[in-house]
Amino acid sequence: MKVILDLDTGIDDALALALALGRPDCELVGVTCVYGNIDVDGAVRNTLGLLALLGHEEVPVHRGCAGPTSGAAYERKRGSVVFHGANGIGGAKLPVSDASVARTHAAEFLVESARRWGSDLMIVPTGPLTNIARAIELDEGAMSAIGGIVLMGGALAVPGNVSPFAEANISYDPEAANVVFTRGARVTMVGLDVTLRTTLSQSDVDSWRKLGERGVAYAEILGHHLNATKMVSPGAKGCALHDPLALAVALDPTYVLSVPLCVFVRTDEGQRGRTVLDQRALEESSEREVRVALDVDSARFTKDFMGALNVALTA
Ligand code: RIB
Ligand code: CA
Repeated sequence: MKVILDLDTGIDDALALALALGRPDCELVGVTCVYGNIDVDGAVRNTLGLLALLGHEEVPVHRGCAGPTSGAAYERKRGSVVFHGANGIGGAKLPVSDASVARTHAAEFLVESARRWGSDLMIVPTGPLTNIARAIELDEGAMSAIGGIVLMGGALAVPGNVSPFAEANISYDPEAANVVFTRGARVTMVGLDVTLRTTLSQSDVDSWRKLGERGVAYAEILGHHLNATKMVSPGAKGCALHDPLALAVALDPTYVLSVPLCVFVRTDEGQRGRTVLDQRALEESSEREVRVALDVDSARFTKDFMGALNVALTA
């Protein structure tokens, strides 16, 4: 399967990147970057550094949008600083990359890739949906012909993580999310409903240290994330595998139970960023359907995730 990861490269995005490189059924054809956990230049810098660490500098990295569709300036959320650290990857110092950022804008690269690979291509956005919405605006036909979009974002039947209603990725750009939910084809939403049921523990992370330089670096990066999680939720057994789960579902949809629903995002001040069911679209039997993941086989997913990370982190 050909995959493009669209990352706001923070700590769980870094895990999704390693998962992509450790799975034999995933051909990572490019990474597009967006603001979110860190600003877009930070996301590009982190992605290039992680690819250098993981020995995959051949993967092209494309810089994308620097702020939301509304034109408002990017304002980093407090949670992004707490969970991902000042540089977005827990303060880790990564190797300096010999590669440079690709010349094409992320949205143009997404469209070119959609035209080139069609149904063989899956796009996995794990940050705000600004690049994806921009690509749909550029060429909706080509973007509708791809294999699918499996996104990490949203919270349908559980509370949000940046407000009582809203999940972070959707909350950064609700307008873009509405473009994707209403005009994207074969969209699967992997939201907090399922990602919060996955856990990476301290002992999982410690097991990477024996793998060498890459494993030690990832253990240090995850150390920051685990400490922040313990500080915010003292009873937590580990941190959630938000972004890796979205990629895993793109490669194998049977990790989750998903149902087709009409989803849209509230843009009014009161509940801005909340993912809700669109009752009117349901009543009109609209074809606008998003598969929403509501349950997950977390034991199988975590086992497969750890297996792939062992491959990617072994230098
Ligand atoms: O709400 C979790 C999501 O927000 C993850 O994608 C995390 O990386 C942040 O972007
Ligand atoms: Ca992310």
